[in-house]
Amino acid sequence: MTMKKIVIVGASSGLGMRIATDFARMGWRVGIAARREDRLKEIKDLYPGRIEYLAIDVAAPDAVERFYKLIELIDGMDYLLYSAGCGWLNPQLDEAKEESTVDTNVLGFTRIVSAAYRYFRDTANVTAGHICAITSVAGTKGIGLAASYSASKRYQWTYLQALDQLAHSEQVNVRITDIRPGFVDTPLLDGNRNYPMEMSIDYAAPRIEKAMLRGKRIAVVDARWAVVTALWRMVPDPLWRRIRLLVPEK
Ligand SMILES: NC(=O)c1ccc[n+]([C@@H]2O[C@H](COP(=O)([O-])OP(=O)(O)OC[C@H]3O[C@@H](n4cnc5c(N)ncnc54)[C@H](OP(=O)(O)O)[C@@H]3O)[C@@H](O)[C@H]2O)c1
Repeated sequence: MTMKKIVIVGASSGLGMRIATDFARMGWRVGIAARREDRLKEIKDLYPGRIEYLAIDVAAPDAVERFYKLIELIDGMDYLLYSAGCGWLNPQLDEAKEESTVDTNVLGFTRIVSAAYRYFRDTANVTAGHICAITSVAGTKGIGLAASYSASKRYQWTYLQALDQLAHSEQVNVRITDIRPGFVDTPLLDGNRNYPMEMSIDYAAPRIEKAMLRGKRIAVVDARWAVVTALWRMVPDPLWRRIRLLVPEK
């Protein structure tokens, strides 16, 4: 059997880093990308021969060109995992935070995910491609404490659904997996605050990997968060707007 290949964008920390090392341990070839090149090199050095890296800023115009270069470095791609992301609690609507959330989670996401789709569509020797993205339960409704983050995650959900329909209609052999975790203890969260139902990386990563390998269309991580989001969805908008916004305590 040929060695499977995965490219993980957003692999210098948190979930992406953990999943990259797990796949390397499973014997896959892994291409990793993010902005912090020193961290990428350290991760590669843990599994030389299995992991290759390339610094990519998804918010920069050369992101797609560099993404294709990374695919070449590992001689092809069977799976993409888009794990790049940023977001803050930002009730002040600080401009820089709002914009960089959109740059990474909307513009960067679109660049990389659409480039992966075109790669799978146009590469004759790919038998089946797989596009996975870590979105979030935050896309369920607009969240006043994190406006751009919740809106960007909803965008990601919709984009992935659109690609799934396009692939079906064009008979492109690509599976689309939307992974929606609740809170996970990674550098993305302000580590000083207590978030409700927070999961460890050790707990969340294997559940994400299972969803990826099974090719699930949508996976909420974990079951408790699936119940919570189902309940959120049922809250009527006039009631949702009246919910008291509480910043998690330090
Ligand atoms: N932690 C949670 O509670 C939680 C919950 C639901 C969903 N998620 C989602 O899970 C994904 C992974 O986040 P995480 O929790 O593992 O946080 P993280 O540790 O902060 O990881 C984010 C990754 O994205 C990369 N990144 C950020 N901006 C980038 C850019 N412009 N270009 C390229 N890479 C960029 C970062 O690397 P560099 O800084 O080196 O570029 C880092 O590797 C995100 O999409 C996040 O929204 C997280």
